[in-house]
Amino acid sequence: MNNNLKLVLALLVLAVGGGALWMLQRPMPMDGSQMAMADGGPIADVKIPAELSSLATIGKRAFDVKCAACHGANAAGTQGKAPPLVHQYYRPGHHADAAFFLAAQNGVRAHHWRFGDMPPVEGVTKGDIKGIVAYVRSLQKENGIN
Ligand code: HEC
Repeated sequence: MNNNLKLVLALLVLAVGGGALWMLQRPMPMDGSQMAMADGGPIADVKIPAELSSLATIGKRAFDVKCAACHGANAAGTQGKAPPLVHQYYRPGHHADAAFFLAAQNGVRAHHWRFGDMPPVEGVTKGDIKGIVAYVRSLQKENGIN
């Protein structure tokens, strides 16, 4: 094999290998609903507040039991399952606290995303939701969603 051919082959291997690596390392798109391949992982990159009020701490407990299976730890969402609540859609001016009560009580018809409907959540009291709202609002605030 002459040296020129070797050089061309080496470049080709580099180009193809580099391309494959690039494909593998591409970040996931924010809207996890289209990424059935990556079911289960978090969707948003959520910064955790250093401190939570006592109401928000109680809310975190309720959230972890009743909501996190779908909305993910720290409300970061779950690929293929449910959206992050730490998201501009759910800022206070767009989804007031009442939306949380209604969502848990009646469920939610899919409208912002393609995860499907949210079923009503059994056994959540108004008190639980008050805490959950306080918790989600502190997460939102820490992440610049006001
Ligand atoms: C079985 C999965 C599941 C569980 C459990 C769940 N959710 Fe959801 N939730 C969803 C999905 C999916 C959506 C997105 C619907 C859409 O497309 O807009 C959603 C949307 C929401 C919304 C937005 C409502 C609106 O008006 O747009 C709120 C608020 C919410 N969830 C709160 C909660 C809270 C609080 C809990 C726990 C008490 C909870 N969810 C538990 C799946 C779930």
